[in-house]
Amino acid sequence: MLSIIVAKAKNNIIGKDNQLIWHIPEDLKRFKTLTSNHTIIMGRKTFESLGRILPNRKHIILCNDAEMHIDDERVEIVDDISKLNSYIHSEEENFVIGGATIYRLLMPYASKMYITEINQEFEGDVSFPTINMEEWNITDVEDGLKDEKNPYDYKYVTYVRKNNK
Ligand SMILES: NC(=O)c1ccc[n+]([C@@H]2O[C@H](COP(=O)([O-])OP(=O)(O)OC[C@H]3O[C@@H](n4cnc5c(N)ncnc54)[C@H](OP(=O)(O)O)[C@@H]3O)[C@@H](O)[C@H]2O)c1
Repeated sequence: MLSIIVAKAKNNIIGKDNQLIWHIPEDLKRFKTLTSNHTIIMGRKTFESLGRILPNRKHIILCNDAEMHIDDERVEIVDDISKLNSYIHSEEENFVIGGATIYRLLMPYASKMYITEINQEFEGDVSFPTINMEEWNITDVEDGLKDEKNPYDYKYVTYVRKNNK
């Protein structure tokens, strides 16, 4: 199965100049807890934005350049989404970690979404697609910790696809 994980602003913005806009260490910790020991699927630009291979996770990088190669056994380059079929249909949870293009591409195949919803608008150049609430149930909402290191009002909202087979 595919699960999306994202942090988005109230106006759906998720990034600017190929970077995250906010810094919420608590959310990054949660990202690490949820995705560790799973496969993470991302676009080439998000991989460049991370700037490194994240420990304890297999990385699948979507890229149209079939010649692209990263010499690391933890990384697989995929140039065609049909090659993700086994990840979509597996029992295991595989995480789609962005960015905007890849969320749009893979949202139709996702069964679950872990969305950190920041209660503030931001200026940016990439956004998360509109969620069609006819397709999703919200199954959990939890307030995020707000303090001097995490200075935003935000909550963790879990969406599960309706009629999930
Ligand atoms: N807030 C969050 O939770 C969050 C999470 C992740 C990312 N972000 C932000 O999102 C932004 C990046 O998003 P983005 O939309 O610009 O880029 P992206 O989705 O990370 O990557 C786009 C790239 O993926 C490849 N690609 C796209 N469709 C493909 C397909 N059908 N087959 C094969 N490869 C395909 C292409 O690579 P090639 O050009 O190499 O062909 C394309 O340029 C950054 O600002 C980042 O910080 C935010």
